[in-house]
Formats: sequence, C-alpha cells, structure tokens
Amino acid sequence: MSHTRTYRIAVLPGDGVGPEVTREAVRVLERAAERFGFAVETEAHPVGGVALEAFGDPLPPGTQDACRAADAVLLGAVGGPAWDGAPPGRRPEDGLLRLRRLLGAFANLRPVRVPASLAGASPLRPERVAGVDLVIVRELTGGVYFGEPRGLEAGPEGRTAVNTMRYGEAEIARIAATAFDLAARRRGRVTSVDKANVLEVSRLWREVVADVHRTRFPDLELDHLYVDNAAMQLVRDPRRFDVVLTANLFGDVLSDLAATLPGSLGLLPSAGIGGPVGLFEPVHGSAPDLAGTGRANPLGAILSGAMLLETLGEVAAAAAVRRAVDAALSDGLRTPDLARAGDTRVGVAEMGAAVCERMNRVEVTA
Ligand code: NAD
Ligand code: IPM
Ligand code: MN
Repeated sequence: MSHTRTYRIAVLPGDGVGPEVTREAVRVLERAAERFGFAVETEAHPVGGVALEAFGDPLPPGTQDACRAADAVLLGAVGGPAWDGAPPGRRPEDGLLRLRRLLGAFANLRPVRVPASLAGASPLRPERVAGVDLVIVRELTGGVYFGEPRGLEAGPEGRTAVNTMRYGEAEIARIAATAFDLAARRRGRVTSVDKANVLEVSRLWREVVADVHRTRFPDLELDHLYVDNAAMQLVRDPRRFDVVLTANLFGDVLSDLAATLPGSLGLLPSAGIGGPVGLFEPVHGSAPDLAGTGRANPLGAILSGAMLLETLGEVAAAAAVRRAVDAALSDGLRTPDLARAGDTRVGVAEMGAAVCERMNRVEVTA
C-alpha cells in the first residue's frame, strides 16, 4: 500500500514504566495511521538511565541526531532510584532537560480534562471536577531549571547550593503569546501564575505578560494569581481555569497537582512545542513502584500521541485517538490507578489494545 504521508517518529522509551507506556502509544499511532491513510516510521533510541548505562551519557549523540532528524519525538519517562545519587550531568533527568533545549521546545502544553466517566475517580468531589477542561502552558527551557549561576560549593561554614531563577523579556513574551494564541482557540481566558509579591523575576513576568495582552491580544481575558493561591484555586474551583500560563518550576508542580482532577497522573499528556521538532511526553515519571508490574496507565502516553498527530496536522486521527480513549473509559475499563468497585480492571497492554480496538469504530467526523 502506498502512502502519501510518512512521518518519522523518534521513540525514546527511557526508564521504568517508560517502555511499557510508549509501546502502547506506538501501537495506537500505528492503528491511527492505518485507519487515516498515512504511515509512521518509528525508531527507538536510548535516553535517561538506560542511555547512561550503555553510553555514559543520558542523551547520547546518536539519540540527539535522530531526534533532530525526526518529524516528532515521543518520550516515555526517565529516572529512577538507581541514579538518585548521581552527580549533575550524569543524571537521567539531565538527558531530558538537554533534549528540551536541543529541540527548542520552550512551550509545554499540559491539558487536563475530566470526562464525565472519570468524575468519580478524583479524590475531589465529582460535582467540583466534572467538566474541567484547562491547559497548563508551562515555560520549559528557562527559569530556575537552567539559570546560571548554579552549583554546590563547600565553604568554612559548610556547604552552600545555589540555583538562579532567570527570565528575559523575550523569553516571557514568546511563552505568553503561545498561551494567548491557545486561549483564542478555546474560551479566551488566560490566568498567569507567578510569585510577583516576592520575586523580581515574577514582577518582570507579570509586566511582560500584561504588555503582550494589551498590545496583541486585548480581546482576550487575562488575570494574574500568585502561585500559592493558584494551587488552592485549582483544587477549590478548577472549572474557573481555561489556560494557565506559568514558569518552568511552577508549571511542574501545578501540573502534578492538577492530575488529581481526573484522578491519576497516568492520564496526563503533554506537548513540547516551539522548536522545529515537537517533543511529546506524558506528564508522569518512570513510576518505579509500578515498573515491570504491567499495571501502569498508558493513557497519558497515548494522549501524548494524539497531541503529536495534531501537531503534524493529522487532526482527524488525533480526534479519533481521543474518542477511542474516552470510549474505553466510558466502557468502564480502568488501570489500577483509577479502578474502583465495579470497574473492569486492565493492565497496561490490555488498555492499549482496548484503545486500538475502539479506534476501528469511533466516529471520525468533526
Ligand atoms: P512519578 O510520576 O514517576 O510517580 C508518582 C506517582 O504517580 C507514583 O505513585 C506512580 O505510581 C504514579 N504514576 C506515575 N505514572 C503512572 C502511570 N503511568 N500509571 C499509573 N500510575 C502512575 O514521580 P516520582 O515517583 O516522583 O519520580 C520517579 C522518577 O521519575 C524520578 O527519577 C523522577 O525524576 C522521574 N520523573 C521523570 C519524568 C519524565 O521523564 N518526564 C517526570 C517526572 C518524574
Ligand atoms: C516533568 C518532570 C521533569 C521536570 C523532570 C524529570 C526533569 O518532572 O516533566 O514534569 O521537572 O520537568
Ligand atoms: Mn514533573
């Protein structure tokens, strides 16, 4: 069979449950390709702890080249207890941070939706979370994750460690524009989250976000929250949020918090965009407590695959993946992280298969 469109996808399974969830995401991508008449060529490359073991480098040159040459990158997770004591530069997480920079993926979109079928899975009351539909826009290649100076030094009074939270105006303006562009296609509301009551870097953030709003997106709504209050509001009244715009570290923390709304971190996908090649990864980590048990939830990885397809322009295929995921959930299929009495408990591979199977029958129009 000949295909008009072929996409090369670099797959970086990584550590822990990473390989288990990406395997299912790749199966779903292949199923989507079959149904929608395009082709995906996937090739796996080492990243994180497995790459450290094999090459002494968490992002080896071969992986870097493959990612730069791909149409998109799908990543599982990196890290684990085996490397927790490793020095800077030789940690699995360094590979991921370097990859984000290498690909110029400065904007990380982390959508959080609570479909009706999952409202009962949240630790929060169903009437508070049903219908939540928000996106965290996390700045991904700056802030305290990358600021200099950084390091650890020994002095006469003991050791001192330093990290630097640094943002330049241009860096803030481009992530703000990404958030407003997204809001314009949604409910038109951006909430910018910072710590401007304490930090200079946040005061600059707030000023630049307000300027971008006033000069380029005056028809959209903008409000500002301090991050401590934002954390509380996300739990108290999550439906008030449409697009949440925030810096690297705050976005990291708030997105795990927001995972309690649908009920499991295993459900959340993300897209790292802004550079020539997108980086798609579930929000969760390597889940060492689940690795090898077959109990991981693959839906965050599968939905990251949907974001990948959308970014490549395969919008109908992306919508079909999302519908197939919703169908599997409304049919009562649950991995253990979400299962309650009366649900059909499935493992990682069964959940992947269930989504693939539903890909054959979901409606594809609009
Ligand atoms: P984690 O996200 O791995 O796990 C947190 C909790 O969520 C655990 O209880 C885990 O069982 C659960 N969970 C995570 N993914 C799940 C899934 N797919 N299905 C069901 N339950 C799931 O976070 P952690 O335990 O703080 O970190 C473990 C390791 O992962 C660390 O080395 C950390 O640096 C790394 N990490 C990597 C990434 C990434 O690669 N993007 C993200 C976060 C953490
Ligand atoms: C995430 C992770 C990473 C981050 C770690 C593993 C470097 O927690 O993607 O949320 O902090 O960005
Ligand atoms: Mn995180």
